[in-house]
Amino acid sequence: MNETSTSSNPLRAGMRSARTVQPCVLVIFGATGDLTHRKLLPALYNLAIEQPLPPQFSVVGVARRPFSDDEFRQQAMDSINQFSRRTPVNPNVWDTFSKGLFYCQSQFDDPEGYQKLSEMLDRLDRERGTEGNRLFYLATPPNFYPIIGDLLHKTGVAKRGRDQGSNFSRIIVEKPFGHDYDSAQKLNAELNKGFSESQIYRIDHYLGKETVQNIMVLRFGNGFFEPVWNRRYIDNVQITVAETLGVGGRGDYYEEAGAIRDMIQNHMMQLMTLTAMEPPVTFGADSVRDEKEKVLRAIPPLHDAEITVDTVRGQYGSGYVGGEKVVAYRQEKDVDPNSHTETYVALKLNIENWRWAGVPFYLRHGKRLTKRLTEIAIQFKRPPYLLFSGTGAEEIQANVLSLRIQPNEGISLRFTAKVPGQEMHLRAVNMDFLYGSSFGVEPPEAYERLLLDCMLGDPTLFTRIDETLLAWKLVDTIIAGWSKERTSLTQYEPGTWGPKEADHLIERDGRTWRRL
Ligand code: BG6
Repeated sequence: MNETSTSSNPLRAGMRSARTVQPCVLVIFGATGDLTHRKLLPALYNLAIEQPLPPQFSVVGVARRPFSDDEFRQQAMDSINQFSRRTPVNPNVWDTFSKGLFYCQSQFDDPEGYQKLSEMLDRLDRERGTEGNRLFYLATPPNFYPIIGDLLHKTGVAKRGRDQGSNFSRIIVEKPFGHDYDSAQKLNAELNKGFSESQIYRIDHYLGKETVQNIMVLRFGNGFFEPVWNRRYIDNVQITVAETLGVGGRGDYYEEAGAIRDMIQNHMMQLMTLTAMEPPVTFGADSVRDEKEKVLRAIPPLHDAEITVDTVRGQYGSGYVGGEKVVAYRQEKDVDPNSHTETYVALKLNIENWRWAGVPFYLRHGKRLTKRLTEIAIQFKRPPYLLFSGTGAEEIQANVLSLRIQPNEGISLRFTAKVPGQEMHLRAVNMDFLYGSSFGVEPPEAYERLLLDCMLGDPTLFTRIDETLLAWKLVDTIIAGWSKERTSLTQYEPGTWGPKEADHLIERDGRTWRRL
């Protein structure tokens, strides 16, 4: 890591957070699980290094395993060593950080466990000065979300309506938030018994990515993008989230979710709404989320006939990715050998509002594709060739502004230039901005930003219930259409860009997917 100080690099000025976190305790349900191990503990440690956390900050891990505080601390140390973006562990930071880690053994549905937790939290308030401020992180299997929410409320461990000020209670809910519209609504109603909407923080970790937050800055912090950000100048938008990984050890979950619930309903809808929304009145949580919600409202539900032609789903077979042999989805652990779950989705959506009418948004996502890459590409209309006809110049390519979310985070603008020489030859060239080289620092992990925002009581980067439900409505219609067997599931070869039907989907409109 480049340790250039903030003061020596003018581009980094202002990168330290000026916001202050009140003393508080973060209770993690599912403290011995994968998410806590890979993401949460390393993120908290990195926050401890960056020092936005007050000295009173404490963590209580809740899980079924019989751990002592020291065993939990040891697990945290292992997590950090393995997954922190900053290693080796700094002994001074670790010393202070680890003293604030505690463990509470309990079943998630046992009221006595909550009693024990309550006593522990009261003790931390007295001994560490956490002032009754509590954040509850649900990092458990989703079937426990309503149970934990309910018991936190019934046992009085969490206080309804306290979202700010002193003695605040906030709950952070991991995805998936429901399985469809009805279950999401039901889960929300359950959580609402103990927590008001302003206390519920629905995590979508894509919103914590620096490059995703930069979409708004790019659009609204610059004068020259916004005037052309509409149907008069833009031909289409392509959003790609490609992964090389398969489903790993998550076959159980993925069988139920599939690519559309796992990625499209949440992460990709968020990328789309941030790209398409109107300028919010302020950067306040509700202003931003109001605009995102309006985009979702402007997408008409797909009819069966559209589902047949405007959506493609695929499933990876066996083959090679990056020279490594990989098994077919149907041979993965905990996957039905006749599974019809999709691991690839491509779709075309229309946003029927003044800004976007007639501009298709093409979304594609798949596992076991040829490379890991997330990109939003704004493809502009071609200028007329007229002027160049008769000069021998090649066809002019459209300008493309591509926002590379990961990896090699940056922004690139493709435009046409003359190839030096006597003849009129044109070539598309790129103007590139790379975060890494401009700012000289690695961006923080998404979970660092999101955990900090929740501690600060800022829900801007969390999904509001109306967004979640509208996204489910859209996805439910597509899934229902698929289940009528109108769109068949095609196998695709791993290490490629997915099924060829996805090419047909876009080629029918006289366009092609970007070659990435
Ligand atoms: C998760 C999905 O939400 O996001 C995974 O459940 C997916 O299936 C992951 O692999 C992708 O996240 P990232 O940050 O690696 O792009």
